[in-house]
Amino acid sequence: MTGTLTQTVADVAIGRLKLNEKPVPTAPSEAKLVDPFNYVGETFGKVDDSYPYADLLPHNPTRTHSEPPLTVQEITDRGFFADPGHARLRAWVKARGGTIKDLGICMGAVIEGENIKMEELGDDEKDDLALLIAERGVVFFRKQHSLTIDQQREIGRHFGPLHKHPTYAVPRRGDLDDVVVVYSDKNSRPDLYAFSRAELFHSDVTYELQPPGATILRLYTTPEVGNDTLWSSGYNVYSQLSRPYQLYLESLSAIHTGHNQAASRSAAGHKIPLREPIDTIHPVVRVHPVTGLKAVFVNPGFVTRIVGVPKAESDNTLAFLKDCFAQQTDATIRWRWEAGDVACWDNRVVNHSATFDAYPSQRHGLRVTPHAEVPLSVADYEAKFGKPAKDWLKERFAKLNIDGPAQDDGKMKNGGFRD
Ligand SMILES: [Fe+2]
Repeated sequence: MTGTLTQTVADVAIGRLKLNEKPVPTAPSEAKLVDPFNYVGETFGKVDDSYPYADLLPHNPTRTHSEPPLTVQEITDRGFFADPGHARLRAWVKARGGTIKDLGICMGAVIEGENIKMEELGDDEKDDLALLIAERGVVFFRKQHSLTIDQQREIGRHFGPLHKHPTYAVPRRGDLDDVVVVYSDKNSRPDLYAFSRAELFHSDVTYELQPPGATILRLYTTPEVGNDTLWSSGYNVYSQLSRPYQLYLESLSAIHTGHNQAASRSAAGHKIPLREPIDTIHPVVRVHPVTGLKAVFVNPGFVTRIVGVPKAESDNTLAFLKDCFAQQTDATIRWRWEAGDVACWDNRVVNHSATFDAYPSQRHGLRVTPHAEVPLSVADYEAKFGKPAKDWLKERFAKLNIDGPAQDDGKMKNGGFRD
C-alpha cells in the first residue's frame, strides 16, 4: 500500500481500505497478533533467562501420531460426599484463622487467610469444596504461593480424571500433559479486530464427551492491573427466562465443535494434535447432578448450532443466550488477579472470559481441568434421580420464605434511568 500515514488512517476511517491491504501501524510492534480463539500456547519469542517459572512456560511437542478418541468414563462427583453446609471445610478454614465470604448474591466466594494453604486440604474438605464450587460457580483462594503444580493436579484428580487438552501447549517440564498453560507477553498482542467481548465468554473444551467440572487455575505471573477474568452464571441465565422459553430450551440440544481449535493449532504449524477434533451434541440446559440446579450450557466459542431448528432460529437463540451471559451484571464476578491467586470454577454451570487489556504485560498461569459426567438434560436428571430439577432463583426465594420471582403485572414499563 502506498501513501502517507495520514492518508492511510483517513482511508480506514471512511472504510476505503481494501481487503488484505495493510494499514501503516500507528504504534509499530514486532509482536504477533493473536486472536484469543486461535491461541494454542506459544511464547513467540525469547523469555528472559531469569524468569523463575521457565520450566512451566508453554511448549508444543512435535508428535508423530494422535492418540485415539476419548471414551466415556464413569465419574462420581465428589460433591455427593460433601457436608450440605460445608462444615468440614468451614472448620478447616476457621482453625487457620481464615474466612469464607460470598462475593455476590448468585455466585462467587473467596477463601482467604495467611495460613490457608490449599495443599493442606484433606479429602473431606475437598469434598465440601466440590459442593461449594458447584453452588457458587467460582471460588477463589488468595496468595497460594506454596502450591506446586503437582499439588494442584492432586486436588484436581480428587474431583475427576484430568483432561489432556487435544491442541494446547503443555509446560516445558515435559511430564505435565494434563496441564494447560495460559500465557501471554509482549510478543503476543490481542487482535482487537478478531473478536467481540461477548463472544469471549466460554466454558472450557465443551466439545468433549465429558466436559470439565471443577477446574483449577493458578496464576504465577500477572500484571499489577488488568487482564482480569469474569465468570457469568448459567444458573442465573436460566432463572431469568420466562417459563415457556425455559421449557423450549430444555427441549433442545446443540453441537459443540473442537474443529476450530484444531484448525488453529494446525495453522500455527503444529500439524498433529494430541487427539483428532470431534463434534459432540449436548443439552442446551443441563442439570448439575449435585445441586440439582438447571443451567444454560451453550457458549459462542464452541457451539455452532442448535439441532433440529432452522438456522435463523438457531442463530438468534444462540446470539440471545450469548448476550444473556455477557450482560447479566447481577450474576457476573470479576476477579482482579494477584500472583499466587487460584480460581476454582465449575465449567458445567458458569461461562468465563478474560479481558485481554494489559498488553504488553506478561501473564502466566496453569490450569488443571477434571472431567465431569456426560451432561444431563433435565429429562436425564429427573429420570436418573427421580426428583425434579430446580431453578436457582425460585430456590433462593423459597429459602427466604418470600413469594417470587415477581409476576408481570401487564402494565406499560418505562425503561431507563431518570437521573
Ligand atoms: Fe477458559
